[in-house]
Amino acid sequence: MNIDHLVQILYLVASGLLIFGLKRLGSPKTAPQGNMLGGLGMLFAILAVCIQEANSDESNWVLVGVGIVVGSVIGIIAAQKVQMTGMPQMVALFNGLGGGASAFVAASEFKYDGTDTSAMTMVPLFLSMMIGALTFTGSLIAFGKLQGIVTSKPVSYPLQKTINLVLFLSTVSAGLLMVNDPSATHWFIVLTALSLVLGVLAVIPIGGADMPVVISLLNSYSGIAASATGFVLRNDALIIAGSLVGASGIILTQIMCKAMNRSLANVLFGGFGSDDSGGAAGPAGPQGNYKSAGPEEVAMILDTASLVIIVPGYGMAVAQAQHQVRELDKALQERGAEVLYAIHPVAGRMPGHMNVLLAEADVPYEQLQEMDVINPSFPRADVAIVLGANDVTNPAARTDKASPIYGMPILDVDKARTVMVLKRSMNPGFAGIENELFFKENTLMVFGDAKDSVSKINSALKEL
Ligand code: TAP
Repeated sequence: MNIDHLVQILYLVASGLLIFGLKRLGSPKTAPQGNMLGGLGMLFAILAVCIQEANSDESNWVLVGVGIVVGSVIGIIAAQKVQMTGMPQMVALFNGLGGGASAFVAASEFKYDGTDTSAMTMVPLFLSMMIGALTFTGSLIAFGKLQGIVTSKPVSYPLQKTINLVLFLSTVSAGLLMVNDPSATHWFIVLTALSLVLGVLAVIPIGGADMPVVISLLNSYSGIAASATGFVLRNDALIIAGSLVGASGIILTQIMCKAMNRSLANVLFGGFGSDDSGGAAGPAGPQGNYKSAGPEEVAMILDTASLVIIVPGYGMAVAQAQHQVRELDKALQERGAEVLYAIHPVAGRMPGHMNVLLAEADVPYEQLQEMDVINPSFPRADVAIVLGANDVTNPAARTDKASPIYGMPILDVDKARTVMVLKRSMNPGFAGIENELFFKENTLMVFGDAKDSVSKINSALKEL
């Protein structure tokens, strides 16, 4: 077997591992294994590159080594340090770096390997540079918005959409002119510059709270850019890996938009989420009367409950209350109650947000139920504990045609005998709208930080 065959086999194994890894990522149970398989796939791909490099006349081991060491150190430190709530930022950065890497490869191929000027090479090179560069700057802006470095408000100015459209068309034109005349370096420079600006201008009009959707879209772009780079380099593994990222990113984007009851166009051009707290503008102040309860009263009601459904939301992530919730869950089970968790597909601020937090607190997967499965159980629940969740429980989504969330599938918590809403105030959630659930006859508001409130309920339960 010659070296080329060995390299091709390694790429094939790497691609297979990435595909199986992605499949295993589909369920929380198999996800850790999927992650391992994906990592192993990358290892095989790196091994193949190293073998190729070792047999090349122009091998530069110092650069390859520095790349591997720097990349690994950054990856390990970042993954260990990142908080669950900081995950979207990290993904944004990684997407940006992926896009940037594709753009760099495109630039180096244009400059140093300008021998193949066929359309088969130049068109992917154009796409690799354009999508890679705009993903790079777009992701940096997304990161900045989520991190609070750049304003999270949608930035708008007159003729914004027209300017973006003209910019997009100019970028594509520069790319096509470069493809038409590959010796004209200036078109390549124009393409690069316009793509970088396009990334910034396309993301600044989007509200910070919509960033998870945008990040998922940019993730898809980084995959498409990598795939295009694979065509430039004639590297099958890169084409496959890039296509996997591109396709899964776009599917995830669609799922998120559907669960939020919004179109992608509305997310990209709608300017939703126009205040700094991450919510869209909504009516000021609570409308109507509500009842509130303290931890002792809550503990007394829970003490006699036989079915308790916990509905976690973004507030649980902010308060990092998952461990206290698990403690409450165990205490209730010891009292003979059945405890289930209702998981809404867009609860929190990223896909799988609640699953990850609850897994961290060792909540068994069997207790977690998706929205469609759990909804029929609410009418027989004695208590629904809404823990820092808001929009995903708002009955207006079912009844109020004028509501911005009308049509969004929600958890039917209002059908439980008693609903306990644990949050700090009457403030709205992400969508910035009043939640009529808070004013219902069977709802009790339990004010305070979720972690603090659940700890107090746990102590009160012990006293009973
Ligand atoms: P939200 O509707 O955003 O409500 C979260 C609630 O948590 C707030 O009303 C807030 O009320 C409360 N909260 C914040 N910090 C708290 C703390 N320390 N202790 C207790 N409560 C706290 O959350 P949700 O129900 O999870 O819905 C998610 C929303 O985000 C949906 O509108 C969805 O469309 C959107 N979204 C989701 C995603 C994904 S992929 N998950 C992506 C983008 C957007 P107080 O301030 O009164 O405490």
